[in-house]
Amino acid sequence: MAKRKVYKFKTWIKILIFIDVLIVIGAIVGYNYYKDYQYKETNEYKLSQIRGNSDKEKYTEQEIKTILNKLTDEEQKDLISRGYNEFYPCFIGRPYFIYSKLDQYMEYVITKEKDFFKYHGTEGYDYDKLIGIVNSHANENPYESDRVSDESKGYGMIANKHYQLGDYAPDDLESIEWKYRFGDANTKIELRSEAHAAYLTMWEAAHEEGIYLLALSGYRSKKEQEKEYNYYKTYKGEKYADSIAARPGWSEHQTGLALDIYAKENSDAKTFDTSNAFKWLSENSYKYGFILRYPKGYESITGYNYESWHYRYLGVDLATKVMESGLTYDEYYAFYLDK
Ligand code: DAL
Ligand code: ZN
Repeated sequence: MAKRKVYKFKTWIKILIFIDVLIVIGAIVGYNYYKDYQYKETNEYKLSQIRGNSDKEKYTEQEIKTILNKLTDEEQKDLISRGYNEFYPCFIGRPYFIYSKLDQYMEYVITKEKDFFKYHGTEGYDYDKLIGIVNSHANENPYESDRVSDESKGYGMIANKHYQLGDYAPDDLESIEWKYRFGDANTKIELRSEAHAAYLTMWEAAHEEGIYLLALSGYRSKKEQEKEYNYYKTYKGEKYADSIAARPGWSEHQTGLALDIYAKENSDAKTFDTSNAFKWLSENSYKYGFILRYPKGYESITGYNYESWHYRYLGVDLATKVMESGLTYDEYYAFYLDK
């Protein structure tokens, strides 16, 4: 009798262990199945499954990482719904990429840069430049926008071929004294008060290092800009005029924050950038709140030829940030301030 009881007890233990094992196995299988199901719902998995025309056309692991790092969940979902495009990761990986402008970047590639990609593929292209062009509206026709320069941005207000000043005129202009400028006693070269003071401080600092700066042109009213622009248009034609002078109502000189600066040693537009004065300004102007506004190589963004003499007052903080970013002011404004 006692033997039978022990036997029964052992059988029950075995059954219980067997059931436990089944539960554990079931839980593991179920958990893995659930995990797998969950993973398949992630953007990461969905991105890895997207294919182009062939099985080879797919996003690499690195590209997927970039997409996940840089885009919000909503943007990732939108990108997934678009399907495969070899250009998307090229743009998304760049520092000043703005997701809402993706279609505009693509349109630029398709309409303006088609041949480059046809002959060279997606490698070696200057995506930052293209992003800068689109971000700052330079992909649009110049002088056609009804965007108005935002005065509330203070010394950071923008003026370019896509933001107009209309009849704006500053009310705190001050005249630069003869010692610091070209022209005779009757010449008037004006800047807004703070920019004027900053120019004089910069002038003194440069002077201490043997550089004799001279201002050539500051504030220009809409009327004065019209004269300037028409002069070039009459003698050199519209295309040339548009590369060197703003149309009336669209010039940064109308803000009272732009100053054309040369030096006693060199006042030649063609060679000023070889002078010590230019070197000094390149290294120091931001410390006084001025930046070079139309740098070499960025004509497609600024809309103007390289101007080694044209400086823009932004205030020391903003000028320092722009300088450190390495961006043109058009790009900086578009990315950081145009909100
Ligand atoms: N030279 C600059 C572009 C102006 O006319 O405003
Ligand atoms: Zn100028």
